[in-house]
Amino acid sequence: MARDILIGIDVGTSGVKVLAVTTQGELAASAIETYPLYTPQAGWTEQEPADWWQATQTALKRTLADLASDRLLAVGLSGQMHGMVALDAQMRVVRRAILWNDQRTASQCRELTELAGGPDALLAMTNNQMLTGYTAGKIRWLQQTEPDNFARTRLILNPKDYIRYCLTGTVLTEVSDASGTGFFDVKNNGWHTGLIRMAGLDPDLFPPLVASTEEAGRISDTAAAQTGLPAGLPVSGGGGDAVISTTGLGLVRPGRIGITLGTSGVVAMGLDAFMANPEGKLQVFRGNAPGSFTAMGVTLAAAGSYHWFRQALGQHESEQAKMTGQSAFKLLDAAAAATEPGAEGLIFLPYLTGERCPIHDPEARGGFIGLTGLHEKGHFARAVLEGVAYSLRQVHALIAANSPDSQGTGTVVLAGGGAASPLWRQIFADVFQMPVQTVYGSAEGGSFGAALVAGVTAGGWPNLTEAVRLIRTESETLPDPSRAALYAELYERYTQAYGALRPLFA
Ligand code: XUL
Repeated sequence: MARDILIGIDVGTSGVKVLAVTTQGELAASAIETYPLYTPQAGWTEQEPADWWQATQTALKRTLADLASDRLLAVGLSGQMHGMVALDAQMRVVRRAILWNDQRTASQCRELTELAGGPDALLAMTNNQMLTGYTAGKIRWLQQTEPDNFARTRLILNPKDYIRYCLTGTVLTEVSDASGTGFFDVKNNGWHTGLIRMAGLDPDLFPPLVASTEEAGRISDTAAAQTGLPAGLPVSGGGGDAVISTTGLGLVRPGRIGITLGTSGVVAMGLDAFMANPEGKLQVFRGNAPGSFTAMGVTLAAAGSYHWFRQALGQHESEQAKMTGQSAFKLLDAAAAATEPGAEGLIFLPYLTGERCPIHDPEARGGFIGLTGLHEKGHFARAVLEGVAYSLRQVHALIAANSPDSQGTGTVVLAGGGAASPLWRQIFADVFQMPVQTVYGSAEGGSFGAALVAGVTAGGWPNLTEAVRLIRTESETLPDPSRAALYAELYERYTQAYGALRPLFA
């Protein structure tokens, strides 16, 4: 029987994921296509928008090939946030996109904060501090460092909105992704044209805005030929991945907190009403449901730290994995699981690309602390998993302290690729001393939330609160109380390490 299908596309950092979901919320088909990440200097990260588009076409064709006679209702878009895609008057890409975890713009962010009248004045305008990850500093960097490229630039898009342009020919963004540019007035729901002008920029550099659930383009004839999607299919506004992944976990209301373990780790909670962002320590953005908001904090290298570990020190496991058809991460997990909780005192700091929250320091660097002659590779692997959990516990504590409803914060919903590891789930449960749940679709990241948002656009559900009712709990990992004291002590040491090491990072 033909099913009604929603397509979610997530333009991530390691690759693009295309997901087909039925209107009953069942996963019907999916495909992932990866692309390179360029690091021209330490702390710089870039990608080719043409690679995103090529991978999106391939992943769409592969997914659609598995759908036979099903009826497609709409497409939803999710993507890595804060990236700068600069386009010229002919809509040609001016240079490689500069990504969310790029740290080159510390001085530009300081200048923009000064131009705004200082940190408090900036918070009053956008409700966010000027993070190096955000788009605004990158535009200023382009202006100062590559004046020829800047002179040719007529439009700045976020990554998923560039893919929207390729799919539909429509130039638009939506409010959740716009919130992460540094030039968006989150409270009043529009571009802060005053701040954009203070920065010496033309507000026309930025695309028009819609709500996440509004229709925002239709598949063009050209894109239909390139992807296999039917021409005329509606594309919804969609959302920035950190926001729309939280929506995909069903966390559209305050209370429960979700953690997405992708390249970055995002701790987030949905909000019904505007929340001020004291000292700008969190990121408080527009949510995907009209009138909603999301409060979040980001650890820049979460699963990204484990990826680094596999690349740098997991050659043996990678080779074994190739020979046996297993995943190298499973082999590293097994080595970690064979060591005692606490990794015999070895503590990992995940600041591989600087850090964002609650420590905001582009110059912070990672490290292993407490090394002795007893430590083996398994201890290092465990220390990486535990260090990321400590970092996210710090962010979680900040969000829980600001939560308007702390009733529901006794459980953590874990999502993203990292949540597939039973060992990592146990480590989170033990470090947080809270039950850790996964929900249906939680491994899919932003693509699942994007499909749900597309379902609202297509009229399948009246709103997102209805759409997320179909999300059910899939697993629950309980904390081991006998590990509470050990992890409390190690967490305490972890939180002190940055302050002690800071003078060495600068
Ligand atoms: C969110 C953030 C990351 C990227 C990763 O603020 O920087 O989650 O969106 O894709």
